[in-house]
Amino acid sequence: MARLSFLLPLLGLLATPAPAALTISAALNVIEYTPLLTTSEDYYNSSAVFINGGVATLVRNSSIDLGANAETQALRNYANNTSLRIIWNIAEVPYRLVANRAAGISSLSDLKGKRVGTINGTSAGYFVEQLLKTVGLQYGDYQTVPGNICHEAPCANRTFPDLLAKGEIDAFGIWEPTLQLGIDALPKGQAVVFQDRKVYREIYNLHSTKEKLADKKKRREIVVFLKDLIKAQRVFEDEPEKVYARVSAAVNVSVPLLEKVWRVHDWSGGIPRDLVDVLEEEEKYIARVDNRTASRREHVAKMVDRSVLKEALALLRKEKGHGHGRGRGRGRGGN
Ligand SMILES: *[C@@H]1O[C@H](CO)[C@@H](O)[C@H](O)[C@H]1NC(C)=O
Ligand SMILES: *[C@@H]1O[C@H](CO)[C@@H](O)[C@H](O)[C@H]1NC(C)=O
Ligand SMILES: *[C@@H]1O[C@H](CO)[C@@H](O)[C@H](O)[C@H]1NC(C)=O
Ligand SMILES: *[C@@H]1O[C@H](CO)[C@@H](O)[C@H](O)[C@H]1NC(C)=O
Ligand SMILES: *[C@@H]1O[C@H](CO)[C@@H](O)[C@H](O)[C@H]1NC(C)=O
Ligand SMILES: *[C@@H]1O[C@H](CO)[C@@H](O)[C@H](O)[C@H]1NC(C)=O
Ligand SMILES: *[C@@H]1O[C@H](CO)[C@@H](O)[C@H](O)[C@H]1NC(C)=O
Ligand SMILES: *[C@@H]1O[C@H](CO)[C@@H](O)[C@H](O)[C@H]1NC(C)=O
Repeated sequence: MARLSFLLPLLGLLATPAPAALTISAALNVIEYTPLLTTSEDYYNSSAVFINGGVATLVRNSSIDLGANAETQALRNYANNTSLRIIWNIAEVPYRLVANRAAGISSLSDLKGKRVGTINGTSAGYFVEQLLKTVGLQYGDYQTVPGNICHEAPCANRTFPDLLAKGEIDAFGIWEPTLQLGIDALPKGQAVVFQDRKVYREIYNLHSTKEKLADKKKRREIVVFLKDLIKAQRVFEDEPEKVYARVSAAVNVSVPLLEKVWRVHDWSGGIPRDLVDVLEEEEKYIARVDNRTASRREHVAKMVDRSVLKEALALLRKEKGHGHGRGRGRGRGGN
């Protein structure tokens, strides 16, 4: 009896779920966010709660600790709230543009006067504009057409693959797997695919805020989570067969389709060396779309905080020193 009463307060504790250590906001239907999910399921020793959203939610709701998005939305929200910080790269994705050969397109310059599907003001809109600029085509030399994404064939009306197959657009550029479904929607040999990592790759990052990172306890949780995210991304990069089924279930993309688009994604992580160069250039586009004056390089550069990564790598080394880790650090972790 004495022992049992000793246990009672403990049972009470177990009955009340502990508050989440971290709340994370991301678009919960994109492949890019899924390493965060795997981190919380397989590695993180505390609890994480996921909220549908992204960096816009992160800067507007102080109960959110981390947010994931492409560099495009980071620039857009940083313009209103300079508390936003990029702390790590989750995925780099060189977007693709698919065109219909039947519309007379075999090279990029053939897109002059054509109808190109994309979502304006997003990473996809920027990608299309940058890619077509390489052959001297300015906005207005082609027509942009809005549409919806698709995760599974047959794609619904008004999705890009459906518009392409019906000949209502001649090409489109967007993230995966919608792009792949566009290729698959055309008769064999009719899809022409353009991709140039040097012109554009999405840089999908993990973010926090200046305030969260200044809070000692919160920062410690974020560093621990990032340490675990580094481990999860190593699996995404080197042994994806271990996560296909769960990523598939999380974002409703079939495993065969996921396998087709997996290598378009680079999960090696770190903080890209040229990140500030990319931000400086893309800021001009975002400012134009949002009707404001572009910020200078020095200003957008302050959004990048490499100190959290340094601490996470130190923690990872310490953990390995204690014999818990496997393998060596890889990728651009220290950049
Ligand atoms: C996946 O599909 C299921 C069933 O249709 C749905 O309940 C769920 O919200 C979908 N998840 C996403 C991320 O779209
Ligand atoms: C989780 O692990 C970190 C080290 O990686 C440790 O400092 C922390 O105390 C652990 N938290 C819990 C709740 O076990
Ligand atoms: C920016 O976001 C931070 C973190 O959510 C918040 O504390 C701050 O009040 C915001 N500032 C503005 C100007 O909205
Ligand atoms: C802020 O996020 C929390 C989840 O952490 C949510 O419960 C709350 O409703 C959000 N508040 C607003 C104003 O959206
Ligand atoms: C930024 O602030 C302006 C002015 O308050 C507002 O119109 C705009 O919607 C905001 N943008 C974002 C991305 O929150
Ligand atoms: C797309 O953005 C451009 C500016 O880059 C604008 O001129 C155009 O009207 C927009 N098109 C659509 C379909 O929203
Ligand atoms: C697509 O549009 C056609 C013609 O407008 C309509 O007949 C059909 O039911 C729609 N299909 C779906 C899946 O909504
Ligand atoms: C952009 O700003 C100009 C000048 O202030 C204004 O005339 C125009 O209506 C604005 N456009 C949008 C889309 O806000």
